[in-house]
Amino acid sequence: MSKTIEQATTNVAFTPYEISLCLHDVRRTRMWKEAIEDAVRPGDVVIDAGSGTGILGVFAAMAGASRVYCIELHPRFVKLIEHLAERNGLSDKITVIHADATTVTLPERADVLVSELLCTGQFFEPQVQVINHLRKQLNPGARIVPQTINSYIRLLDAQEMLYGVKIDCDSRSVVLDDDEPVSTRVLYDTIDFSDEHRLIVDTTVQVQARSTRLADAVLVEGQALLAPGIKTYPTRFLYNPEVIFLKEPLELIAGQTYDVHVRYPYGADTLDATIEVSKH
Ligand SMILES: C[S@@+](CC[C@H](N)C(=O)[O-])C[C@H]1O[C@@H](n2cnc3c(N)ncnc32)[C@H](O)[C@@H]1O
Repeated sequence: MSKTIEQATTNVAFTPYEISLCLHDVRRTRMWKEAIEDAVRPGDVVIDAGSGTGILGVFAAMAGASRVYCIELHPRFVKLIEHLAERNGLSDKITVIHADATTVTLPERADVLVSELLCTGQFFEPQVQVINHLRKQLNPGARIVPQTINSYIRLLDAQEMLYGVKIDCDSRSVVLDDDEPVSTRVLYDTIDFSDEHRLIVDTTVQVQARSTRLADAVLVEGQALLAPGIKTYPTRFLYNPEVIFLKEPLELIAGQTYDVHVRYPYGADTLDATIEVSKH
């Protein structure tokens, strides 16, 4: 029987629906399985931070880990992780820790840290905070999955009308048929987990307008490197581009260069991000 260590302090708003989408997004989950098989060596101690159903922790145990610490904040998923470990005969290897992965203290140092809190642009989820905190509890030479995350931005003339209603008040993780990219696409942020990372994006990048047209949104895309040769891409439910509406739309002139200023703390809501576009 696996044991649960209680350290939780706060609650998170992840729903069973969202966690089920993660688990049953087969292409997404297979790419993580492959990356974990690449990172874990027999006898390793592994951390799975933000464990959800515990599927990634189970992959680590199946790959030969001697001990896997599955850290999860939501009490409902803590029970699911225990169940999954037991059903797969891995309870003796998997220890569930009901805790906040940004503050938890582990009973021992680990050789591999796996954490799937990926969100396009690293909005909404504390991926950077979790890895910054847990990297201090790793052995020298430990592997971290993901290794790096790149984020890209371009200007968009976004489809606003849907169902006869003007909808431009929020971001959306879906590209609609009439969304039209209107500028070049540039890299605006790189996170490299080989070292502690800053907690905020604050940068200005340049894009070139492709047409004389309105830009009323930006399209943010992300790509994480999980292991050598294994990069994320939009799957059935996850890692989709994020369309974020600008507070101040502007008319572009074809060929003109524009500054795009982007500022938000990692994990922030897109509603709280500052994204400003002006002529270069
Ligand atoms: C995107 S899901 C990933 C689930 C699972 N690792 C997978 O790949 O299928 C993120 C999970 O992290 C948990 N989580 C979010 N913030 C957390 C935190 N600070 N500490 C521990 N767990 C957290 C959520 O409750 C959720 O179950």
